[in-house]
Amino acid sequence: MTSSIFDRAQTSARFIRERINAEVDVAVVLGSGLGAFAETLENKTIVPYEEIPDFARSTVEGHSGRLVVGALPGTSINVAVMQGRFHYYEGYSLDEVTLPIRAFGAMGVKKLALTNAAGGVNQGFRAGDLMLISDHINLMSISPLRGKHDNRLGARFPDMTEVYSKEYRRIAKEAAAELNIRLIEGVYLSLQGPNYETPAEIRMMRLLGADAVGMSTVPEAIVARQMGMKTLGISLITNAAAGLEETEINHAEVMEMGQRVSNQFCELLTKIIVRM
Ligand code: HPA
Repeated sequence: MTSSIFDRAQTSARFIRERINAEVDVAVVLGSGLGAFAETLENKTIVPYEEIPDFARSTVEGHSGRLVVGALPGTSINVAVMQGRFHYYEGYSLDEVTLPIRAFGAMGVKKLALTNAAGGVNQGFRAGDLMLISDHINLMSISPLRGKHDNRLGARFPDMTEVYSKEYRRIAKEAAAELNIRLIEGVYLSLQGPNYETPAEIRMMRLLGADAVGMSTVPEAIVARQMGMKTLGISLITNAAAGLEETEINHAEVMEMGQRVSNQFCELLTKIIVRM
Protein backbone atom coordinates (compact mmCIF):
# COMPACT_ATOMS: atom_id res chain seq x y z
CA MET A 1 0.00 0.00 0.00
CA THR A 2 1.28 3.46 -0.82
CA SER A 3 1.56 5.94 2.02
CA SER A 4 -1.00 8.68 2.64
CA ILE A 5 -0.83 12.07 0.93
CA PHE A 6 -0.01 13.58 4.31
CA ASP A 7 2.93 11.21 4.83
CA ARG A 8 4.23 11.75 1.29
CA ALA A 9 4.13 15.52 1.76
CA GLN A 10 5.98 15.16 5.07
CA THR A 11 8.65 12.98 3.44
CA SER A 12 9.16 15.40 0.54
CA ALA A 13 9.20 18.37 2.92
CA ARG A 14 11.78 16.75 5.19
CA PHE A 15 14.04 15.99 2.24
CA ILE A 16 13.81 19.53 0.84
CA ARG A 17 14.38 21.10 4.24
CA GLU A 18 17.53 19.02 4.80
CA ARG A 19 18.83 19.89 1.36
CA ILE A 20 18.32 23.63 1.57
CA ASN A 21 18.96 24.05 5.26
CA ALA A 22 16.95 27.29 5.45
CA GLU A 23 13.40 28.50 6.04
CA VAL A 24 11.35 29.30 2.96
CA ASP A 25 9.32 32.52 3.06
CA VAL A 26 7.52 32.27 -0.27
CA ALA A 27 6.95 29.43 -2.74
CA VAL A 28 6.61 30.16 -6.44
CA VAL A 29 5.43 27.94 -9.30
CA LEU A 30 6.61 29.06 -12.73
CA GLY A 31 4.53 28.45 -15.85
CA SER A 32 5.61 27.62 -19.41
CA GLY A 33 8.36 29.90 -20.66
CA LEU A 34 8.65 31.75 -17.34
CA GLY A 35 11.54 29.74 -15.89
CA ALA A 36 13.97 32.67 -16.03
CA PHE A 37 12.71 34.05 -12.72
CA ALA A 38 14.53 31.23 -10.89
CA GLU A 39 17.85 32.37 -12.38
CA THR A 40 17.52 35.78 -10.70
CA LEU A 41 17.81 34.31 -7.19
CA GLU A 42 21.02 34.62 -5.17
CA ASN A 43 22.89 31.84 -3.33
CA LYS A 44 20.88 29.20 -5.12
CA THR A 45 20.43 25.59 -4.10
CA ILE A 46 19.10 23.47 -6.94
CA VAL A 47 17.22 20.24 -6.30
CA PRO A 48 16.12 18.23 -9.37
CA TYR A 49 12.64 16.80 -8.93
CA GLU A 50 13.84 13.26 -9.53
CA GLU A 51 15.85 13.46 -6.30
CA ILE A 52 12.89 14.50 -4.17
CA PRO A 53 11.02 11.52 -2.70
CA ASP A 54 7.55 11.08 -4.24
CA PHE A 55 7.89 14.02 -6.65
CA ALA A 56 6.87 13.30 -10.24
CA ARG A 57 8.98 14.30 -13.27
CA SER A 58 8.46 17.25 -15.60
CA THR A 59 7.77 15.95 -19.10
CA VAL A 60 6.83 19.21 -20.80
CA GLU A 61 9.19 21.23 -22.94
CA GLY A 62 9.83 24.58 -21.26
CA HIS A 63 9.51 23.08 -17.80
CA SER A 64 12.94 22.34 -16.37
CA GLY A 65 11.88 20.08 -13.55
CA ARG A 66 13.82 21.40 -10.62
CA LEU A 67 13.32 23.24 -7.40
CA VAL A 68 15.48 26.35 -7.10
CA VAL A 69 15.80 27.89 -3.65
CA GLY A 70 17.55 31.17 -3.00
CA ALA A 71 17.24 34.76 -1.87
CA LEU A 72 15.38 37.39 -3.80
CA PRO A 73 18.10 39.71 -5.14
CA GLY A 74 19.25 42.26 -2.58
CA THR A 75 17.01 40.86 0.16
CA SER A 76 17.02 38.16 2.82
CA ILE A 77 13.68 36.81 1.55
CA ASN A 78 14.11 33.13 0.83
CA VAL A 79 12.11 31.85 -2.12
CA ALA A 80 11.51 28.27 -3.28
CA VAL A 81 10.80 28.24 -6.98
CA MET A 82 9.38 25.35 -8.95
CA GLN A 83 10.97 25.67 -12.36
CA GLY A 84 8.32 23.55 -14.02
CA ARG A 85 5.19 21.96 -12.61
CA PHE A 86 3.20 18.76 -13.03
CA HIS A 87 0.04 18.77 -15.13
CA TYR A 88 -3.01 16.56 -15.16
CA TYR A 89 -2.62 16.14 -18.94
CA GLU A 90 0.75 14.48 -18.42
CA GLY A 91 -1.17 11.59 -16.93
CA TYR A 92 -0.40 12.39 -13.30
CA SER A 93 -3.11 12.14 -10.70
CA LEU A 94 -4.10 15.39 -9.00
CA ASP A 95 -2.45 14.01 -5.85
CA GLU A 96 0.81 13.97 -7.79
CA VAL A 97 0.14 17.34 -9.42
CA THR A 98 -0.40 19.00 -6.05
CA LEU A 99 2.17 17.14 -3.93
CA PRO A 100 4.70 20.01 -4.18
CA ILE A 101 2.12 22.42 -2.75
CA ARG A 102 1.40 19.96 0.07
CA ALA A 103 5.15 19.69 0.67
CA PHE A 104 5.53 23.48 0.87
CA GLY A 105 2.63 23.52 3.31
CA ALA A 106 4.32 20.82 5.39
CA MET A 107 7.49 22.97 5.41
CA GLY A 108 5.43 25.77 6.98
CA VAL A 109 5.30 27.97 3.87
CA LYS A 110 2.26 30.25 4.10
CA LYS A 111 2.74 32.39 0.98
CA LEU A 112 2.39 31.10 -2.55
CA ALA A 113 2.66 32.61 -6.03
CA LEU A 114 1.24 30.54 -8.90
CA THR A 115 2.03 31.57 -12.46
CA ASN A 116 1.07 30.14 -15.82
CA ALA A 117 0.84 30.70 -19.54
CA ALA A 118 -2.74 31.13 -20.73
CA GLY A 119 -4.82 31.92 -23.77
CA GLY A 120 -6.68 35.22 -23.79
CA VAL A 121 -10.45 34.66 -23.89
CA ASN A 122 -11.26 38.28 -23.17
CA GLN A 123 -11.26 40.11 -26.49
CA GLY A 124 -9.57 43.12 -24.90
CA PHE A 125 -6.43 41.11 -24.13
CA ARG A 126 -3.29 41.14 -26.24
CA ALA A 127 -0.55 38.55 -26.42
CA GLY A 128 2.10 39.55 -23.90
CA ASP A 129 -0.37 40.94 -21.35
CA LEU A 130 -0.07 39.90 -17.73
CA MET A 131 -3.31 38.98 -15.96
CA LEU A 132 -3.79 38.98 -12.22
CA ILE A 133 -6.05 36.04 -11.39
CA SER A 134 -9.04 37.30 -9.39
CA ASP A 135 -10.88 33.98 -9.36
CA HIS A 136 -11.14 30.73 -11.27
CA ILE A 137 -13.62 28.40 -12.95
CA ASN A 138 -12.68 24.75 -12.56
CA LEU A 139 -13.67 23.15 -15.86
CA MET A 140 -10.96 20.57 -15.35
CA SER A 141 -14.05 19.20 -13.66
CA ILE A 142 -12.21 17.26 -11.01
CA SER A 143 -11.13 18.36 -7.54
CA PRO A 144 -7.71 17.56 -6.07
CA LEU A 145 -9.53 17.04 -2.77
CA ARG A 146 -11.58 14.11 -4.04
CA GLY A 147 -10.95 10.92 -2.10
CA LYS A 148 -10.85 9.63 1.42
CA HIS A 149 -10.62 12.59 3.74
CA ASP A 150 -7.63 13.18 6.00
CA ASN A 151 -8.23 15.90 8.59
CA ARG A 152 -4.51 16.64 8.75
CA LEU A 153 -4.70 18.10 5.23
CA GLY A 154 -7.42 20.62 6.08
CA ALA A 155 -11.20 20.82 5.92
CA ARG A 156 -13.34 18.33 4.01
CA PHE A 157 -15.40 21.15 2.48
CA PRO A 158 -13.08 24.17 2.30
CA ASP A 159 -14.50 27.57 1.43
CA MET A 160 -13.42 28.96 -1.98
CA THR A 161 -14.68 32.53 -1.69
CA GLU A 162 -11.21 34.07 -1.80
CA VAL A 163 -8.80 31.58 -3.34
CA TYR A 164 -6.59 34.41 -4.64
CA SER A 165 -5.81 36.78 -1.78
CA LYS A 166 -7.35 40.24 -2.03
CA GLU A 167 -4.38 41.69 -0.22
CA TYR A 168 -1.92 40.14 -2.67
CA ARG A 169 -4.02 41.44 -5.55
CA ARG A 170 -3.84 44.95 -4.14
CA ILE A 171 -0.07 44.61 -3.70
CA ALA A 172 0.30 43.29 -7.26
CA LYS A 173 -1.69 46.17 -8.75
CA GLU A 174 0.36 48.74 -6.82
CA ALA A 175 3.63 47.11 -7.89
CA ALA A 176 2.54 46.99 -11.54
CA ALA A 177 1.49 50.66 -11.47
CA GLU A 178 4.86 51.67 -10.04
CA LEU A 179 6.69 49.70 -12.73
CA ASN A 180 4.39 51.01 -15.43
CA ILE A 181 3.42 47.46 -16.38
CA ARG A 182 -0.07 46.74 -17.73
CA LEU A 183 -1.69 44.23 -15.34
CA ILE A 184 -5.32 43.33 -15.98
CA GLU A 185 -7.43 41.42 -13.48
CA GLY A 186 -9.51 38.49 -14.65
CA VAL A 187 -10.96 35.01 -14.22
CA TYR A 188 -8.85 31.97 -15.16
CA LEU A 189 -10.65 28.95 -16.50
CA SER A 190 -8.89 25.58 -16.31
CA LEU A 191 -9.28 22.64 -18.66
CA GLN A 192 -7.60 19.26 -18.67
CA GLY A 193 -5.88 19.78 -22.05
CA PRO A 194 -3.49 18.92 -23.63
CA ASN A 195 -5.23 19.92 -26.87
CA TYR A 196 -6.04 23.59 -27.24
CA GLU A 197 -9.68 24.62 -27.45
CA THR A 198 -12.08 24.97 -30.36
CA PRO A 199 -13.45 28.42 -31.26
CA ALA A 200 -16.92 27.25 -30.09
CA GLU A 201 -15.49 26.27 -26.71
CA ILE A 202 -13.84 29.67 -26.38
CA ARG A 203 -17.15 31.42 -27.15
CA MET A 204 -18.76 29.29 -24.43
CA MET A 205 -16.03 30.24 -21.96
CA ARG A 206 -16.60 33.92 -22.63
CA LEU A 207 -20.30 33.45 -21.86
CA LEU A 208 -19.31 31.72 -18.63
CA GLY A 209 -17.30 34.73 -17.51
CA ALA A 210 -13.76 33.55 -18.23
CA ASP A 211 -11.00 35.95 -19.27
CA ALA A 212 -8.18 33.45 -19.75
CA VAL A 213 -7.90 29.71 -20.32
CA GLY A 214 -5.18 27.24 -19.38
CA MET A 215 -4.33 23.74 -18.23
CA SER A 216 -2.87 24.21 -14.75
CA THR A 217 -2.92 26.25 -11.53
CA VAL A 218 -6.45 25.50 -10.31
CA PRO A 219 -5.66 22.18 -8.55
CA GLU A 220 -2.67 23.83 -6.84
CA ALA A 221 -4.74 26.84 -5.79
CA ILE A 222 -7.50 24.63 -4.34
CA VAL A 223 -5.00 22.60 -2.30
CA ALA A 224 -3.26 25.77 -1.10
CA ARG A 225 -6.62 27.17 -0.01
CA GLN A 226 -7.45 23.99 1.87
CA MET A 227 -4.13 24.25 3.71
CA GLY A 228 -4.67 27.92 4.54
CA MET A 229 -1.87 29.29 2.35
CA LYS A 230 -2.30 32.78 0.90
CA THR A 231 -2.13 32.67 -2.88
CA LEU A 232 -1.26 35.06 -5.67
CA GLY A 233 -2.03 34.05 -9.27
CA ILE A 234 -0.55 35.58 -12.42
CA SER A 235 -1.21 34.46 -16.01
CA LEU A 236 0.92 35.46 -18.94
CA ILE A 237 -1.42 35.78 -21.91
CA THR A 238 0.74 34.13 -24.56
CA ASN A 239 -1.84 34.14 -27.35
CA ALA A 240 -5.39 35.07 -28.24
CA ALA A 241 -7.56 32.00 -27.58
CA ALA A 242 -8.80 29.86 -30.48
CA GLY A 243 -10.94 31.57 -33.09
CA LEU A 244 -9.99 35.12 -32.14
CA GLU A 245 -7.20 35.29 -34.69
CA GLU A 246 -6.51 33.59 -37.98
CA THR A 247 -3.37 31.83 -36.79
CA GLU A 248 -3.13 28.44 -35.09
CA ILE A 249 -1.92 28.11 -31.50
CA ASN A 250 1.23 26.16 -30.73
CA HIS A 251 3.48 25.47 -27.77
CA ALA A 252 6.52 27.10 -29.40
CA GLU A 253 4.63 30.40 -29.59
CA VAL A 254 3.59 30.04 -25.94
CA MET A 255 7.23 29.54 -24.92
CA GLU A 256 8.51 32.37 -27.06
CA MET A 257 6.11 34.85 -25.50
CA GLY A 258 7.41 33.81 -22.08
CA GLN A 259 10.92 34.74 -23.13
CA ARG A 260 9.76 38.03 -24.61
CA VAL A 261 8.09 39.32 -21.46
CA SER A 262 10.55 37.60 -19.14
CA ASN A 263 12.26 40.77 -17.89
CA GLN A 264 9.00 42.55 -17.11
CA PHE A 265 7.60 39.46 -15.49
CA CYS A 266 10.68 38.96 -13.27
CA GLU A 267 10.69 42.60 -12.24
CA LEU A 268 7.01 42.56 -11.35
CA LEU A 269 7.12 39.26 -9.48
CA THR A 270 10.16 40.38 -7.49
CA LYS A 271 8.49 43.61 -6.44
CA ILE A 272 5.32 41.79 -5.43
CA ILE A 273 7.12 39.10 -3.41
CA VAL A 274 9.08 41.72 -1.45
CA ARG A 275 5.71 43.05 -0.27
CA MET A 276 3.98 39.73 0.35
N1 HPA B 1 -5.35 27.49 -24.29
C1 HPA B 1 -5.03 26.73 -23.23
N2 HPA B 1 -3.87 26.81 -22.59
C2 HPA B 1 -2.98 27.70 -23.03
C3 HPA B 1 -3.23 28.53 -24.15
C4 HPA B 1 -4.50 28.42 -24.81
O1 HPA B 1 -4.80 29.11 -25.79
N3 HPA B 1 -2.13 29.31 -24.32
C5 HPA B 1 -1.25 28.96 -23.35
N4 HPA B 1 -1.76 27.99 -22.58
